[in-house]
Amino acid sequence: MTGYTGPKHGPLYDMGALGFAPGEMVCVTGAASGIGKATAIGAAKAGLTVAVWDIDGPGAVATVDEIAAAGGKAIAVIVDVFDRQQVERAWRETLSLGPCHYLVNNAGPRSVSQGPFADRLLEAVGSMETVAKSWLSHCVGVAASLVNISSIAGNLQGSGKTVSAFYPAAKAAIAGLTRHMATRLGGMPRVNAVAPGITITPRIEPMLASPAMQDLAARVPVGRLGYPEDMAHAVLFLLSPAAAYINGVVLPVDGGVTLA
Ligand SMILES: NC(=O)c1ccc[n+]([C@@H]2O[C@H](COP(=O)([O-])OP(=O)(O)OC[C@H]3O[C@@H](n4cnc5c(N)ncnc54)[C@H](O)[C@@H]3O)[C@@H](O)[C@H]2O)c1
Repeated sequence: MTGYTGPKHGPLYDMGALGFAPGEMVCVTGAASGIGKATAIGAAKAGLTVAVWDIDGPGAVATVDEIAAAGGKAIAVIVDVFDRQQVERAWRETLSLGPCHYLVNNAGPRSVSQGPFADRLLEAVGSMETVAKSWLSHCVGVAASLVNISSIAGNLQGSGKTVSAFYPAAKAAIAGLTRHMATRLGGMPRVNAVAPGITITPRIEPMLASPAMQDLAARVPVGRLGYPEDMAHAVLFLLSPAAAYINGVVLPVDGGVTLA
């Protein structure tokens, strides 16, 4: 039996009709790769200026180049979101372009990362709180909407056999943080989360050769694994003014696998 041999990308639709205003800016963390990269490219396609934040400098520049080649506007910001001082410096660089209306907290450690539980947990969820809090302090009255990237792991799935313990714990904490911020901040900004199912990104690709992946894809009611573009569509919708009355949701984007 072979591993997963299907496509790795799906279509990326134009989300520009969802109410974003010309000249608005979004910051996407972890935008050199995978879900963050698809979201950054989708945001640029929708007319937003994009701050491409990543610890991987060449990868961030590659995303910016791809956006610029398609006629969009973006800036690469090299930052470790786990480092508070770097985050502050990254906001200064980003805001030199103007105010930042939207934030996508996407960067996070790999689900199989090893090391002390408390350190990895803090890296995964503490960094999201740090980036969001810092954004709010710099963009008072401008911040319109935030999407955190959680997971079905820890929320709708135990994931006991496949990932390190910190990962589901962190992703459940991100769901809790999302609901807390959504109510605490009174909708200014709105705060929601996307909980992806298994999504074909570079961090997942090494596992695609396993026959178990083909089995897993077949168990998803829509008959395939997720594409980064599937996640980007959900993120951009929740960010957008079209989702003005949606606040505090944790939206599974998993092809229905957690119901099957
Ligand atoms: N791929 C999946 O199946 C899946 C499922 C559920 C949730 N998620 C979540 O989606 C998010 C993105 O995952 P992906 O699959 O697109 O991964 P990916 O590895 O393709 O991309 C992650 C990006 O984040 C960057 N990054 C990592 N740590 C960073 C740090 N400290 N500071 C700045 N940048 C950093 C990496 O350099 C990379 O460019 C993660 O939060 C992940 O937990 C992914």
